[in-house]
Amino acid sequence: MKAPPSETATRDPLLRLAGINTFYGAVQVHFDVSIEIGAGRIVCLLGGNASGKSTAMKVILGLVRPRSGSIWFDGEPIHGVPTQEIIRRGIASVPEARRLFPAMTVRENLLMGAYARSDKRRVAEDQARVLDLFPRVGERLNQRAGTLSGGEQQMVAMARALMSRPRLICMDEPTMGLSPLFVDRVLDLISAINRQGTTVFMVEQNASLALQVAHHAYVLQTGRIVLEGPARALLHDARIREAYLGGEVAA
Ligand SMILES: Nc1ncnc2c1ncn2[C@@H]1O[C@H](COP(=O)(O)OP(=O)(O)OP(=O)(O)O)[C@@H](O)[C@H]1O
Ligand SMILES: [Mg+2]
Repeated sequence: MKAPPSETATRDPLLRLAGINTFYGAVQVHFDVSIEIGAGRIVCLLGGNASGKSTAMKVILGLVRPRSGSIWFDGEPIHGVPTQEIIRRGIASVPEARRLFPAMTVRENLLMGAYARSDKRRVAEDQARVLDLFPRVGERLNQRAGTLSGGEQQMVAMARALMSRPRLICMDEPTMGLSPLFVDRVLDLISAINRQGTTVFMVEQNASLALQVAHHAYVLQTGRIVLEGPARALLHDARIREAYLGGEVAA
């Protein structure tokens, strides 16, 4: 492999994308993309507009099928597996623009994250566990999701994803459009979720923010991985600083 050895490469990754080529019609959006997400890590996929980040998330969830390449979760192939089954195996997603059900209450939205489960007592326990992490969501259980602020909606979307007890949570630009206060809160929550044992795959345009919480990152440029490494190293990488950080090292 061309990529330098990394800390995630030395152990069996929880999720592995290998040699992914994805097309929308005749247009190719991924060129031989390989990504490894080590168990217990926060791994970030950085890249500018239209580089193929959201599509990578959709490929993992089985919402977009690559033309070639393979996807492995916990050692099992998941390419070709239906999305519902992929979710059942332990992958949850917080999609772009949150995708809450705006007319439903916060409580109803949370329960949608547990829809595949029939054990009411366990679901109630999960709700209590998740609300412990998101007390602000707990204060708004009866409010319609569509009337929440952007930051609150992001928290409900993350809480909903955690209701399915995922082993891997995939988040598409979780800080997009949020005020600085909410950005900090959401980043803290991502770290907290990870400390509690959930592996995180995060797609971000904002490299300086993402590299603060991620362990490892990949950079996607027009469908190709052009850089990969530990987050700390990338934060100081001249190429990243020029392309994404305005030449300054983030605090
Ligand atoms: N359903 C689709 N049909 C056709 N082309 C698509 C479709 N979805 C995405 N694309 C194209 O694929 C390319 C990659 O899109 P993608 O959404 O993966 O990029 P992204 O890196 O997430 O961008 P952004 O930062 O703007 O969210 C873009 O050129 C986009 O127009
Ligand atoms: Mg996107």
